Amino acid sequence: RKKIGVLTSGGDASGMNACVRSVVLYGISKGCDVYAVYEGYQGLVDGGDYIRKMDWRSVTGYLSIGGTSIGTARCMAFKTREGRLLAAQNLIKNGIDSLIVCGGDGSLTGADVFRSEWSGLVSELLKADRITKEEASIFKHLTIVGLVGSIDNDMSSTDITIGAVTSLHRICEAVDSVDTTALSHSRAFVIEVMGRHCGWLALMAGIATGADFVFIPERPPSEEDWETAMCKVARRHRELGKRKTIIIVAEGALDRNLKAIKVDHIKDILCDRLGLDTRVTILGHTQRGGSPCAFDRILGTVQSVAAVDAVLASTPDKPSPMIGMNNNQVTTKPLMDAVKLTHEGAAAIESRNFDRALELRDPQFLD
Ligand code: F6P
Repeated sequence: RKKIGVLTSGGDASGMNACVRSVVLYGISKGCDVYAVYEGYQGLVDGGDYIRKMDWRSVTGYLSIGGTSIGTARCMAFKTREGRLLAAQNLIKNGIDSLIVCGGDGSLTGADVFRSEWSGLVSELLKADRITKEEASIFKHLTIVGLVGSIDNDMSSTDITIGAVTSLHRICEAVDSVDTTALSHSRAFVIEVMGRHCGWLALMAGIATGADFVFIPERPPSEEDWETAMCKVARRHRELGKRKTIIIVAEGALDRNLKAIKVDHIKDILCDRLGLDTRVTILGHTQRGGSPCAFDRILGTVQSVAAVDAVLASTPDKPSPMIGMNNNQVTTKPLMDAVKLTHEGAAAIESRNFDRALELRDPQFLD
């Protein structure tokens, strides 16, 4: 009987619960035992009550709950060898040889490193009498399957990550609310949105709310003097009769010299040069909270079915798979290839190769 562990890691994202629910229900229906590892990798390191066998009713109501009900953490202990030894020991003692991890690129890389070290960890545990010879011979391999849970939509090789669309809805609701007060007072608002080094949330929110100007890391303003360019656009829109000015700024936005574009600086420019009564709104973690939209419930559900199937089809010689979504199809791709392309995208921004950065994120972006 296959024993599968499921955990959520890194920043939470709406739809992670749909993943856990689907892994549990589909896994059980396929004759597997499914264990939830609470608190991400920390739960794996701590073991005990953090690793719990799930039954059909354990995930009742999960679909509509935001965040992750089994908890998540950005775990430092798992980055150490002793942490990973403890994690391996806890998995073996619970009889688990397959892990489905839902998280961002950092969490998924951690999972693959764990898998590649596995035989060394098992030998070390055996040598230290922390596991028996029989256990070492049964748990020769670890299977890892990655699900991409992140509001940032910053992973290459998949069109969309679990939680990004819900976040986008939250941002749109917030910008719509700001819009009404901006209109009343004829004000300008500079709104900062999350996304880390990725501009997907900012760009899509800009399109969805009809913002005047959007700043994203992958396409810095072409002008050295972007302040003047932005003012030109805002002024023109005012002259056309707009009573409000909305500027959306990705938290990772950069100018052409890779200098961070700060919301307060934009505010000062709009006040000083255009005389606009301007406020700054940083949306913060409201963007990450709340009930998942239908899309993320569906995405988490169908991708997790594919994740369980990938566990059941896994062999030690195959690379760890990542479940993605491409052209509306659930896809399975080598996890580390996707991670490599994601890092290449970040490096392309650092070397100011912005076209390459966009290409690596395609088709998530409209060029
Ligand atoms: O990666 C998801 C994310 O929400 C980013 O958009 C943001 O930069 C970061 O996590 C915030 O992290 P924390 O919740 O640890 O403050």
